[in-house]
Amino acid sequence: MTRASSPRQPIPVILDCDTGVDDALALLFALRHPGVDLRAVTCVAGNTDVDGVVRNTLTVLEQAGAPDIPVARGAERPLIEPARSARHVHGHDGMGDLELPDPTRAPCDVPAVALLRREILASPRPVTLVPTAPLTNIALLLRTHPEVVGNIGRIVFMGGAVAAGNATPVAEFNVWHDPEAAAILLTAGVPITMYGLDVFQRVVVPGAQVRRLRSAADPAARLAGRLLAHRPAAPEGHRDPEAGGLGDAGAVCAVADPAGLTTRPLPVEVCLAPGPARGQTVVDLRARPGESEVHGAGDAAPRPVDVALDVDVERYVALYLAAVGG
Ligand code: BDR
Ligand code: CA
Repeated sequence: MTRASSPRQPIPVILDCDTGVDDALALLFALRHPGVDLRAVTCVAGNTDVDGVVRNTLTVLEQAGAPDIPVARGAERPLIEPARSARHVHGHDGMGDLELPDPTRAPCDVPAVALLRREILASPRPVTLVPTAPLTNIALLLRTHPEVVGNIGRIVFMGGAVAAGNATPVAEFNVWHDPEAAAILLTAGVPITMYGLDVFQRVVVPGAQVRRLRSAADPAARLAGRLLAHRPAAPEGHRDPEAGGLGDAGAVCAVADPAGLTTRPLPVEVCLAPGPARGQTVVDLRARPGESEVHGAGDAAPRPVDVALDVDVERYVALYLAAVGG
């Protein structure tokens, strides 16, 4: 694969995804941005079943002319609960029903956890892990091969929400789908950025740009336009009816250009209790301890996570279009 020259060394990145319309947008950006060195892609059940995720992922890589990146099949269900797809958002095939050709190659013959371990340990520089899906593969990796932690520089995950959820009033889909896995991720002991719904839903490509992409000569740009036209993440009531949300791709923008994201180190815990708050990411925004801490009733404060609170929308849209727009 040919890359444009970059002044800094590209960041070794592994994407763990449930492709997924916006996971596909994330893959295209990771392939095309010169600051990102996409080392491997691992697949997990989420937006659709894991075999559908593998197929969609391989199709995207082939359409973008990058068939050599290793892709592995991962968990077919969460740690405890059954899989619950988001096909009502992402289409019957999980990727917008665009009638793309089936991939010509198969995934690699090792499971996702083994590929993650191999690629993380083999990387000469610390890897940035970017999960844009339920965290099942990552939790299994951390519990099976804790030695990988030493060569993970950062985990930038799409998941959670400070304010409202989408799968439930308070829980975001990726965390809600496998809350126990998300809880394991949050205690990984490496720097973590939470790219949650609060910023995820805001990064929207204007309709005029979506139209331009759809008629681009470059197949990857054209695919991005078609995916954006499916616009799974455009906020309801957006004034531009043809605008399309970048969704998961914003998390990869945050790796390539962290200055576009405003984060604060904050304690985050996942609600694991059954009931209406299950899967909620409880973000502690308080400026000082409360009565719970004063009376010593609470557990030790969780290690802070860099929680995304604001995003420079124009900057990330321009970044995406410069990389993928042809
Ligand atoms: C997340 O859920 C999926 O539908 C999207 O791909 C994204 O990763 C948003 O809640
Ligand atoms: Ca996703």
